[in-house]
Amino acid sequence: MNKERKLIIAGNWKMNKTVAEATDLVEALDRDLGTQTDVDVVVCPPFTALDTVSAKLKNSLIKVGAQNMSENDYGAFTGEINAGMLRDLRVHYVILGHSERREYQKESDALINAKTKAALTAGLKPIVCVGETLAQREANETESVVGQQIAGSLAGLDAEQLKDTVIAYEPVWAIGTGKTASSEQAQEVHAFIRSEINKSHGEEVAKAVRIQYGGSVKPANAEELLGQPDVDGALVGGASLEARSFSDIINNTRN
Ligand code: PGA
Repeated sequence: MNKERKLIIAGNWKMNKTVAEATDLVEALDRDLGTQTDVDVVVCPPFTALDTVSAKLKNSLIKVGAQNMSENDYGAFTGEINAGMLRDLRVHYVILGHSERREYQKESDALINAKTKAALTAGLKPIVCVGETLAQREANETESVVGQQIAGSLAGLDAEQLKDTVIAYEPVWAIGTGKTASSEQAQEVHAFIRSEINKSHGEEVAKAVRIQYGGSVKPANAEELLGQPDVDGALVGGASLEARSFSDIINNTRN
């Protein structure tokens, strides 16, 4: 696939996989994908499997991401994990502001912005998630909702920081539902996000920043979605839990 930006495909394992299961999955992925250079591949296991997965991928081109982190440094924050601790486990990416956290943990754009800045300061690349609900789409609010999430979550980032940030557009109605946005719907919102970045940070940054699509991405629809000019990769949930389907998604975009 001939793309303006290098594709980045990340697997969000969510709250799945014991250490033993994670080991099996990542060994299989490393066999299938560990030496390819066409696509940046990232796996995001639960915290409990990060150390093992990082060790398994030590000599692999597959990178490791976390699914969340604290906006704070060290101290009295029971149950939290900071960016430095993730770096210590050779983690390179962190998913921030996933819609499940926005909904269940009530994460706000301001909090996601603080986490994004903390991640970048520590040398982690954030994958910042945005996306509208079905009710918002039906009320024609997609652009205002996504525009606000982009402005709020990425506020105050300079050009270099934004280039190190990956944006994931994940329409909430498409996550885990089997309903995928059509490639036209995805392209439309991705182009909108890029135009917002063009307005805030200029053309060079807008051209460089990678925008993933997420929401029921599978081997059967990946090629068409990722073939859109402003779709620069995918954030994959369910289909990243099996080596075969995750590898197929990546391999389907490599020809
Ligand atoms: P899904 O999840 O691929 O299972 O829809 C995507 C996500 O939540 O990142």
